[in-house]
Amino acid sequence: MNSKAIITSALPYANGEIHLGHVASTYLPADVTTRFLRQKGVEAYYICASDDFGTPILIQSEKEGKTPEEYVEYWNKRDFEDFAAFNIKFDFFYKTSSLENRQFVQDVFKKLEQAGHIYENEIIQLYCNTDKKFLPDRYVIGTCPYCKANDQYSDLCEKCGRVPEEIENPHCSICGQTPVKEKTKHYFFKLKNFSDKLSQYLESNQNLQKDVKKYVQNWIKEGLTDWDITRDISWGVPIPVDGEKEKVFYGWFDNHLAYISSTIKFLNDNGKDGKKFWNDADIYHFIGKDIVYHHFLFLPAMRLGINEEYKLPDYIPTRGHLTLESKKISKSRNWYIGLKDFLKIFPSDYLRFYLVSINPYSQDDLNFNWDEFATKINSELIGNLGNLVNRALGFTVKSFNGIVPDPEKFDDMDKESEKMIHELASQLSVLMEENHLDRALKKILQFSAHFNQYFQHKEPWNNGAGTNSCVFLAVNAVRSLAIAIYPFLPESSQKIWAQLGLDGNVSTEMFDEISSITLKHGHKLGQVSPLFEKVEESVIEEQKSKLGGTS
Ligand code: MF3
Ligand code: ZN
Repeated sequence: MNSKAIITSALPYANGEIHLGHVASTYLPADVTTRFLRQKGVEAYYICASDDFGTPILIQSEKEGKTPEEYVEYWNKRDFEDFAAFNIKFDFFYKTSSLENRQFVQDVFKKLEQAGHIYENEIIQLYCNTDKKFLPDRYVIGTCPYCKANDQYSDLCEKCGRVPEEIENPHCSICGQTPVKEKTKHYFFKLKNFSDKLSQYLESNQNLQKDVKKYVQNWIKEGLTDWDITRDISWGVPIPVDGEKEKVFYGWFDNHLAYISSTIKFLNDNGKDGKKFWNDADIYHFIGKDIVYHHFLFLPAMRLGINEEYKLPDYIPTRGHLTLESKKISKSRNWYIGLKDFLKIFPSDYLRFYLVSINPYSQDDLNFNWDEFATKINSELIGNLGNLVNRALGFTVKSFNGIVPDPEKFDDMDKESEKMIHELASQLSVLMEENHLDRALKKILQFSAHFNQYFQHKEPWNNGAGTNSCVFLAVNAVRSLAIAIYPFLPESSQKIWAQLGLDGNVSTEMFDEISSITLKHGHKLGQVSPLFEKVEESVIEEQKSKLGGTS
């Protein structure tokens, strides 16, 4: 394992609140992974930023009568707060509109240009004579040429999901007039130049998911097209060419460069050589499956284009989309749950537990279901894990004054339980290293279920032979659990730690400590109380009734 790591997750657009769909596929898996890597002794940093540029943000800020700067500033702060409430703990949360990123983007462009990877081309763009501006992307509304749906944006049909080559019956989304066609000069990135090198990169990187790799390789085989990196709007990174006053870079040219520029700033500000660290580290970019094209092709191609001055990603963990009660999440139809609202009702660990448990390391979509959420929390988190903690610690307090007893000679069942503690760390580590977070969580629950059965079978309340060993092992198993669940459920983990009478922060325990038996005879537990509160049916019903309404 590399001793250094940089972890990023897809940068959220500074354009509306974070909802459950966002956190399920990228932010939560990345946060869990970062916490895990630290437990393994890796110097790991989790870096993110708001994605500030682009046409939709410009339009929305105009609608709200704000400057785009004011508008993105608000969402940058708000996103960070919402993530923090969910214990998504970035080491640094910056923005694509930062001075550092602007400069970095312009620098990269100049290097690409000098290396011959950029060319200019005159293209036809829609232009509004009333508003006196070019109309890219969302500035044009019209009929989808494929499915004939009306009122679709020119860059994406929401009905059929396709990107129209040329929208029919175009209208300016600001004034409603029919635009005219005007010539404009755009800069293109020669993506075609990189077909071979991209193939080699994909081929040689053994950490990428095989199925994702396969279809990206197919895109390359079908032939890549060069990439228009220009927009005729005012909100974006200016193109560093004399006379190009009215043009900026396309948001997808600059946004992923903020992974690098934000990391470098953070590390340099902390007295390290940021660039060296980046190139020494394992690089992880966590994404959702909708942006595979950008992360498997554009992003590596641009890094290749500047001679790999910054290394290419080692891992691009890609996950599917979250549906809500089996339907697509949609803010306008109020089929949607905001992260902030959710956390007003339930502890963050409930959501972390549920979302990890339904989220495989694959591109399969996952589904949020309120009833399943209640069942999983009540029967697995509380009925299994919470139960063991409360039972083992509660019994020790009641019958042993909270003091860990001296074990007797182990019988076969004790030995089996001891062995489970000894093996847990390496079993979990294998799964976590492969990013099978859901399977690791499942393994933890199996471990907990085993100790519940063990406790039940030994009936320590009868105070017969073997009682001391049972209590001794059960309390130590709870300690193992506390460390094992830390990446997933940081708050609950720390609570258990304190109830065990252990000082300090559980986050500083090394991962292998999961498998050691360190609470010896005479250790005094802390204050013991139930960890969790049951999810009530009525609360779930109330939440369900909010969906789809006109909130
Ligand atoms: N804002 C983009 C989205 O939500 C993701 C940008 S990820 C980046 O789809 F790395 F490219 F910045
Ligand atoms: Zn369509």
